[in-house]
Order: sequence, then structure tokens, then C-alpha cells
Amino acid sequence: MILGICGSSRRDSNAQFLLDRALHGARQCGYETSSISVREKRIMPCEGCARCGLDIQRCKLDDDMQSIYNALMNCSGLIVSTPVYFGGITGQMKTLLDRTLLLSRIGRRMANKVGGVICVGKRGGHEFAGLSTMNVMNLQGMILPGNASVHVFADEPGSVRGNRDSLARAEDLGRRIAELCASLSPE
Ligand SMILES: Cc1cc2nc3c(=O)[nH]c(=O)nc-3n(C[C@H](O)[C@H](O)[C@H](O)COP(=O)(O)O)c2cc1C
Repeated sequence: MILGICGSSRRDSNAQFLLDRALHGARQCGYETSSISVREKRIMPCEGCARCGLDIQRCKLDDDMQSIYNALMNCSGLIVSTPVYFGGITGQMKTLLDRTLLLSRIGRRMANKVGGVICVGKRGGHEFAGLSTMNVMNLQGMILPGNASVHVFADEPGSVRGNRDSLARAEDLGRRIAELCASLSPE
């Protein structure tokens, strides 16, 4: 299964639209997909208690991350799609990624999963947003294909719909994630 997570809380989100196309690409390669958006989720910030993996095997914060942990552990590929906010990722996405600390501390549960990133912004900051997300994936022991971060320029809600080149690049990322998953774990 290839999981997509969208970091936008906006209706008619460009990041969600691009993610949907990437997941479509993964399905073309025979993978099942699943999608999560921070928009519908209640995710509290990591408190840095550093107890996870020591005296407790779960996060003590009882919120929607509990089901997201299951989705993350069950996927073989992960595509993170986020708007660029002030030259970085959205606060909601950063909060979610911080909470994945649990998964490394209970036995490197994200290791060897395949990762990719989509960053969409009006005019700049995509590089840092992409690099910071790929950094989390690298630190989690994940495997990234070449050109793992796709950068798209769009601003108005839903405006990316008219950008065929951007949609094609998102779809191609989904296919490449699926192909790498398949080559790592042939059926
Ligand atoms: C708080 C905030 C900060 C933003 N900062 C940037 C930025 O630094 N660079 C940029 O190119 N776009 C920036 N934008 C524009 C969004 O990235 C852009 O509208 C994007 O398409 C939103 O994606 P969404 O439709 O998935 O929410 C910002 C938007 C908001 C609301």
C-alpha cells in the first residue's frame, strides 16, 4: 500500500490535488493507495517527553496520530504533499512529522519504506520545504528515488488543476515510488 499525506488545511487544496494525481500514478503500477489529510485530523505537538520506546511503546498523546501511526506502519511507500508556508512546510505537517519519532524509537518502523515529496507554493521556498521533509525521511531510514521532491508553482485554491505539466510530474512521482517499492519487495 502506498500512503499519501496532505499538509494543507484548505478546501480545494492544490497539495491534495497533486497528491491525488501521484496516488493515481501509483495505482497504475498496481498498488493500492490510501490518503490522509491534516485538514480532518486533530494532531497535538510532540511534547518531547522522550518516553516512547522506553517505558511506553505508544505515544501518550491520545489523538488522531494513533490511527496515522497504523497507516504509516502498514504502507510500503509514503508520499508527503505540502504547501510551502514561509519557505518551509506547514505547521500541521511539521507537527505530524515530529510525532513520527515514536516509530523510530519502537524499532525503526519506517526503515526501508520508499518516500517522495510534493511541495506547492506561489513563488519560492520549495527547496527548503522539500529538503526538510526528505531529511525526516532520511533520518527515519527511508529510501528515496532520484528527484524525490517535486516542486510546483500554484497559489489560488484548485488552480493547479489547469497545470498539465505539474500534474504529470506528480503522477510520475507516484509511478516512480511504486516502481521502487516493487523492486525492493518483488511479489
Ligand atoms: C501562511 C502562508 C504562507 C505562505 N508562504 C509561502 C511561501 O513562503 N512561498 C510560496 O511560494 N508560497 C507561500 N504561500 C502560498 C501557498 O503555498 C500556496 O497558496 C499553495 O498553493 C497553497 O497550497 P494548498 O492549496 O494545498 O493549501 C503561503 C501561504 C500561506 C497561507
